[in-house]
Amino acid sequence: MKGNKRPYVILSAAMTIDGKIATKNGDPDISDEGDWKAVHKLRTEVDAIMVGKGSIILDNPKLHIKFYEHKGYFRIILDSTLSIPIESNVVTFKPEIYPTIIVTTENAPIEKIKEFESKNIEIIQSGKGRRVDVVNLMPILYHKGVKRILLEGGGNLNWSFIKNNLVDEIRIAIAPWMAGGKDAVSLVEGEGFAKMIESPRYLLSNVSSRNNYVTLNYKKEE
Ligand SMILES: NC(=O)c1ccc[n+]([C@@H]2O[C@H](COP(=O)([O-])OP(=O)(O)OC[C@H]3O[C@@H](n4cnc5c(N)ncnc54)[C@H](OP(=O)(O)O)[C@@H]3O)[C@@H](O)[C@H]2O)c1
Repeated sequence: MKGNKRPYVILSAAMTIDGKIATKNGDPDISDEGDWKAVHKLRTEVDAIMVGKGSIILDNPKLHIKFYEHKGYFRIILDSTLSIPIESNVVTFKPEIYPTIIVTTENAPIEKIKEFESKNIEIIQSGKGRRVDVVNLMPILYHKGVKRILLEGGGNLNWSFIKNNLVDEIRIAIAPWMAGGKDAVSLVEGEGFAKMIESPRYLLSNVSSRNNYVTLNYKKEE
């Protein structure tokens, strides 16, 4: 590994007042148009957007940029077993503008790797464990020219980044609903920290509100 410089990571999400990023049935329709515009603006300012396999399977997003002129960026998907459908929008939609990288583990089936590579998807293998090793991945991405990443969830991927203290900045839009439900995905899932003092602390850098939405910006405390 060439050094351990890593990309700057901005976690972005829209959540309900009670911290859910989708309903118990996986309905993700939280943002209004104003919020989407803000998110797409943020997308123009990064080298890559990253999501977990769960978000691809549930929402099949294009992860593109609307509303603004832009140069494109990498779409990075974390999928330990290469099990997202080959016809997913991140594979088929405008790959010439938004090249897709799927990050998997060293245990990923070779035939699956070849299948995705035949669709011009770049495969990176990071770690030998059950899930992608995100700490190991960061310098690999940095040396590919990815200096800024927009981390767009979902809750399980967010936890891996928070657990490893890899989130530098947070941008949360709070939408005016209470979705409830222990099975509705929260902003950060995973096992969680035992003590507050163990968790990364952030400094509030901006608060704004519009159309019944509140946007919070935080930066990591140095
Ligand atoms: N409101 C918002 O802003 C927003 C944004 C994004 C998503 N969402 C919602 O979030 C939900 C999906 O969230 P989710 O938590 O179920 O899925 P997720 O975080 O998108 O993806 C998690 C999956 O990614 C794979 N993965 C690979 N390496 C990983 C690692 N190191 N750490 C964590 N995951 C890793 C795992 O599957 P394998 O082990 O099989 O690889 C894991 O199950 C959807 O309902 C979506 O609509 C909402």
